[in-house]
Amino acid sequence: MKIDIITLFPNMYTGFLSESIIGRAIKENKVEINLVNLRDFTKEKHGHVDDTPFGGGCGMVLLCQPVFDCIRSLRTEDSLVIMMTPQGEVYSQKKAKELSLKNHLIILCGHYEGFDERIRSIVDLEISIGDYVLTGGEIPSMAIVDSIVRLIDGVIEDDSHEYDSHTNWMLEHPQYTKPRVYEGLEVPEVLCNGNHKEIEKYKLKESLRRTYLRRPDLLEKHELTKEEEKYLKEIIEEEKC
Ligand code: ADE
Repeated sequence: MKIDIITLFPNMYTGFLSESIIGRAIKENKVEINLVNLRDFTKEKHGHVDDTPFGGGCGMVLLCQPVFDCIRSLRTEDSLVIMMTPQGEVYSQKKAKELSLKNHLIILCGHYEGFDERIRSIVDLEISIGDYVLTGGEIPSMAIVDSIVRLIDGVIEDDSHEYDSHTNWMLEHPQYTKPRVYEGLEVPEVLCNGNHKEIEKYKLKESLRRTYLRRPDLLEKHELTKEEEKYLKEIIEEEKC
């Protein structure tokens, strides 16, 4: 997969692109990520990329010309152009999965107050990472790139996606590592006894419990299997006590 990120602040990505799983995925050629500086495309004197809004108002608005020229220079028949904006579709794990199957993403990050509305006509998709406003699209773009790259084949161990919160619609079960007892806090016995059937049951039931307690809205959206229904009944009784 190739990802082009259009930004006015390429230095913001230095650590993000060199460290951890993303850094390794780039080194191993699982993904190619290019930073494209929008300022390189402006035809304005003094390198301006924005101007004051028609009709007045505070702040600056990103100009059409550098954005149109930049996107046109990158786009092929295979590209999906995404604009980061708090007005976009709210991002989800389902969207991450869908985007991880694309060949070429072009991600446009705005800064300052906003975009000239006509820029919307050349993007395919608008994404928000939540109902709050950041100073620009750079941090949101990192969030979506991270969530997409980790889903690309071979980037992380295959089955470690399986229990990710939200992948299977419910939250992930609690996890523990050594020691078995820490300051009197114990790891549940079932996880240490090597009985894989019991461990799988525990994981499913505790995922359901987490979801029931923290995100009951997710339970409402999902049709439960017989096994999930049985566990949920038990959980409701247990949580009454
Ligand atoms: N730019 C500023 N805030 C944003 C948000 N919440 N999501 C995506 N892009 C943004």
